[in-house]
Amino acid sequence: MEFTERPRRLRGDGVREMVSETSVSASDLIAPVFVDATADERVPIESMPGHERVPVEESVARVREVMETGVEAVMLFGIPESKDPEGSRAYAEDGVVQRATRRITDRTDAYVIADLCLCEYTDHGHCGVLESDAAADPELTVRNDATLELYAKTAVSQAEAGADMIAPSGMMDGQVAAIREALDGAGLADVPIMAYAAKYASAFYGPFRDAADGAPAFGDRRHYQMDPANRREAKREVRLDVEQGADVVMVKPALPYLDVVRDVRESVDRPVAAYNVSGEYAMLHAAAEQGWLDLEAVAHESLLSIKRAGADLILTYFAEDVAELL
Ligand code: PBG
Repeated sequence: MEFTERPRRLRGDGVREMVSETSVSASDLIAPVFVDATADERVPIESMPGHERVPVEESVARVREVMETGVEAVMLFGIPESKDPEGSRAYAEDGVVQRATRRITDRTDAYVIADLCLCEYTDHGHCGVLESDAAADPELTVRNDATLELYAKTAVSQAEAGADMIAPSGMMDGQVAAIREALDGAGLADVPIMAYAAKYASAFYGPFRDAADGAPAFGDRRHYQMDPANRREAKREVRLDVEQGADVVMVKPALPYLDVVRDVRESVDRPVAAYNVSGEYAMLHAAAEQGWLDLEAVAHESLLSIKRAGADLILTYFAEDVAELL
């Protein structure tokens, strides 16, 4: 037997860590937090064990729990007290995310990222204002440019409430440009944008839609979110968002789209975020509950793989658990 290369030499205790190419640390992680204006106590989210919707009054306590694990950034999602066709509670000065943001930024050092979309706020559950015949004709869904005006108002109201970063997730064309222009015009030029740039029309969002009560009442999001079959198109979406002023670009979901994370990493010089979504979390939990997987091990391996694919930041429901492990 003739061979000289023995990769196993570097797998022994003591050296393995030194040659490790990738690591996950708490400062890479962003924890999603759900704030619910209809709740007066914490409500567990059944399909996402360990997560809950919290009332505004509990938002500071919830964020402090996150920070105790070493995670310093949160992404806020809101469940409003009421919904209407224009999602007006998304851009209300006393909206649920605005109120929670004020409290959290007043009382903690957490870095607060505001998710910006209308689907939790519209009574039809779509991510923008509808064409007039949308309910009757599934070919007609969301009006792109009219929606941009509402996104711009939402961004300004979130940033004025103290949000450190704005993360538009609605997948309207031109959304980053519209938000950048509005923020700059309001004297908020220092507030960065993390664009959900390559966001796919994915079935892995199922548990989130229970959590945030944002499932579309009819139709689906295929007219605005990306087709899971497309890889090249992700680079185009990302390029457009960077041209429009995105400071960070995101790929979502993460694990089924690691090829896209890698492509994006190689195609732009901006930090890349990946969203390890609700379904990715729920399926590991479900298998672990059956005793089929070791939850801590697969959670850590998942995040490590997302980093290895090229992500700098990871939005994940495992943030607290994995940070505690590290
Ligand atoms: C809102 C939004 C969604 C998610 C984040 N922001 C739902 C959707 O687009 O249907 C999904 C997050 C998750 O599944 O963890 N547009």
